[in-house]
Amino acid sequence: MPESDTSKIEKNFYLDVPQKSEVFFLKGSNSYDWGMKNRLARIFDAASGKTVMLAFDHGYFQGPTTGLERPDITILPLAPYADALMLTRGVLRSVIPPSLNKATVLRASGGPSILKELSNEYIAMDMDDALRVNACAVATQVFIGGEYETQSVMNLTKLIDQGLKVGMPVLGVTAVGKELTRDANYIRLATRMCAELGAAFVKTYYVPGFETVTAACPVPIVIAGGKKLPELEALEMAYRAIDQGASGVDMGRNIFQSEAPVAMIKAVRKVVHENMKPTQAYEMFLDLKNR
Ligand code: 5RP
Repeated sequence: MPESDTSKIEKNFYLDVPQKSEVFFLKGSNSYDWGMKNRLARIFDAASGKTVMLAFDHGYFQGPTTGLERPDITILPLAPYADALMLTRGVLRSVIPPSLNKATVLRASGGPSILKELSNEYIAMDMDDALRVNACAVATQVFIGGEYETQSVMNLTKLIDQGLKVGMPVLGVTAVGKELTRDANYIRLATRMCAELGAAFVKTYYVPGFETVTAACPVPIVIAGGKKLPELEALEMAYRAIDQGASGVDMGRNIFQSEAPVAMIKAVRKVVHENMKPTQAYEMFLDLKNR
């Protein structure tokens, strides 16, 4: 028998307080189901609306990239400072302790190595496995203008359909290969296509005119870091991207290839979450590095 409610305290139904209906904090994301929003809220900080994702999935086509030869040694010390980790399921299972309790964005596409045509990718993981490892999102690349453009776009839409069934957000990553242009016109096209096709958020590169890219994309955009830059330049790029409407960074080489990776990720966090000016963040970086 369940216990009966024998409390003498008078029940209070707060009749004069209407129940609030929260508007979800993330751009363009209010109409999703609870699970999808909950996963996004683990990637993006609800207070700042931003995220610092640490990308170290490069090995899925590039093998042991510089700085990622031993992710157990180089990445684990950085993980506590990231809001989310972008990685492959292989490194997740082999290196990342489940007790770390970090949001993860799983690389879900693959196929060709750097020795071949990179746009010839397929979906390379099952949505069941993303659920099994409690991922917060899955990611696939689109190669707009690339040789296998349509195939890569179909990878995205298939993942989105599978993701919608289980509440898994899909990150559309816009590839910029050797033959693809990197300007606002191209990035607007590629990011908007990802959003129109249903990606919950989009990863792309910072370009001049970036405010038109974020304005034309109805879902959050995070920027990739790209090739390693001097730390101040990387912080300036992050600052400009946030100032021009980005919802965060998904940065890899500019963090793990830095001469002081922990100092760098801490400085990036200040820029992204607290709008710290890049020069001040750089001073912080130098100070932490020299300690
Ligand atoms: C590869 C990816 C990588 O995760 C990402 O672009 C690499 O980050 P970074 O450019 O900052 O090293 O999506 O296609």
